[in-house]
Amino acid sequence: MKLQPPVRRSKENNMLIDAVTMRALEIRSTLKDGVVGGVGTLLKTVRRTVTRGGTRRLGSWLTSPETSVKIINDRLNLVEHFIASPKLLEDIRYKLKLTHDSQRLVQKMSLGRGDADDLVSLARTIIQTQDIVDCISSHLPRKKESLEVVKELIGRIEKLEELAARILRKELMTEKQLLETRLLDESMLSEHLVALKWTPSLGHILHIKSRTLPDMTEGILSSAISVGSSKSTHSYHLPEWTKLGSRIEMARLAIRAEEQKVLQDIRKQVILNIHALRRNAAVLDELDIAAGFAVLAKESGWVRPILNMSTEHKIVGGRHATVQRSLDDLGRTFVANDCWVGGEEGMWIITGPNMAGKSTFLRQNALISILAQTGSYVPADHAEIGIIDQIFSRVGSADDLYRSQSTFMVEMIETAYILKNATPRSFVIMDEVGRGTTVDDGFAIAGGVVRYLWEVCGCRVLFATHFHGLVELVEGWEKEEGKGKGKGKGKGRKKIGAYCTDLVEDEKGGWMFVHKLRKGVNKRSHAVKVARMAGLPQLALKTAEDILKAEKFKRGG
Ligand SMILES: Nc1ncnc2c1ncn2[C@@H]1O[C@H](COP(=O)(O)OP(=O)(O)OP(=O)(O)O)[C@@H](O)[C@H]1O
Ligand SMILES: [Mg+2]
Repeated sequence: MKLQPPVRRSKENNMLIDAVTMRALEIRSTLKDGVVGGVGTLLKTVRRTVTRGGTRRLGSWLTSPETSVKIINDRLNLVEHFIASPKLLEDIRYKLKLTHDSQRLVQKMSLGRGDADDLVSLARTIIQTQDIVDCISSHLPRKKESLEVVKELIGRIEKLEELAARILRKELMTEKQLLETRLLDESMLSEHLVALKWTPSLGHILHIKSRTLPDMTEGILSSAISVGSSKSTHSYHLPEWTKLGSRIEMARLAIRAEEQKVLQDIRKQVILNIHALRRNAAVLDELDIAAGFAVLAKESGWVRPILNMSTEHKIVGGRHATVQRSLDDLGRTFVANDCWVGGEEGMWIITGPNMAGKSTFLRQNALISILAQTGSYVPADHAEIGIIDQIFSRVGSADDLYRSQSTFMVEMIETAYILKNATPRSFVIMDEVGRGTTVDDGFAIAGGVVRYLWEVCGCRVLFATHFHGLVELVEGWEKEEGKGKGKGKGKGRKKIGAYCTDLVEDEKGGWMFVHKLRKGVNKRSHAVKVARMAGLPQLALKTAEDILKAEKFKRGG
């Protein structure tokens, strides 16, 4: 058995996404039911692959995006080439559909399994692969530097036609056919024979249909012994038939043995070519992913991201691919939002009412980065992204009672991990850190976390919170640092920007969410409105409103 060496993933070559973030961003499985590739996952939303291998590799690419600008651009060049050549795109996807999962097939062979059908599938895939290479080559313009990647990719394909021809024409077929003909010839009774059955006491006996019986009673059946009859069939025994039956059995065994021998021989040939077959399969996977990304970009109107080595994240008109799809299905419109962190402002503190899109905004920016570094176009009007080494997220609350961790403890463990590991090249999204405890303590913790991220980590941060007081707090620190508004100096720390979502009300008491982010702070959460929308009983709502009024009065509001 041949095992594949493990693939090493390192911070130098891949964007690291820890398990918590993977779950929170619903990349492969949903938070709710954990279904891999289910509705609501990034994988499901962006998957347009047509082969199993392509889908598998897409799942692995999305969970470990690249950090090399060159590799990402190579991938994007291929996607762009497919977008620019619709006929090629259509042909390639059609041809890819005709291939089989050769990774799985060779794995079967290397485990000593795999039947004649598997071998034929493998042979057809080899032939199809060559066809795909020819098709791509014929569409390649002579001199175009950006398409060197395409040449390099198809150049990796190893020619294996000889193996394919060997499988398809080999004795496997001819030998089997030969023996089968012999078997038929030897059973001279074939045209009358319904079935030659074996019984322990009489050996082989013949079952004959009642309607063919009159033609036969004069001939061969005259010396046979009747051993039973039913309305439709009659059974006869004759010693010669027992002999014939045994010969047929022998022939069948010979076929099986021959088949096994030939199969074994071809399996060996396949195993000798296992590396080439796997390499070819990998190329097909990459083509499938790129073609899928091209289809996705065209149907969704996505743009090609610009990747660079800065630490900026500049998105114009960004969208959340999955939320947008679900809103589209409901006939609602997704409101696009811009995001520019890592430039003048290193961190954005986002406030706003419940249900107004803070968490969605945080996630969409993380997902856009992941898609970009995977080599896909992205859901935005313009995207410039400085390569990210690691994405961190602290969103949602989940307790792990089995490991004796309360909700707040889990939140703190995850936050500590982020603060200790984030580098200036990292991207951090934090959603309502500090909400799992009293308001005062939660506010204090949130302040401590923001200050550490700003002062020590210096990474790109999107921080959504209902603690609007945080904005005043950080303005105080910025002043302290001599980096107050407009001064632009200090210890090289970037500014912290304050942005918010809104809720607009009319005179008649109607209201709606404004999902568009604007500069500033929103001090109102409008939680009671959301609670009413959710169907909280009238008495509970009324009490909540009274408490709110009393609190406001106490604070002199
Ligand atoms: N940009 C947008 N355009 C249109 N609808 C949006 C947008 N962002 C979010 N929504 C809708 O609003 C819902 C709630 O969004 P989200 O969970 O992001 O709100 P939130 O501000 O984080 O609320 P909370 O403070 O309660 O956590 C989403 O499920 C989606 O249906
Ligand atoms: Mg939220």
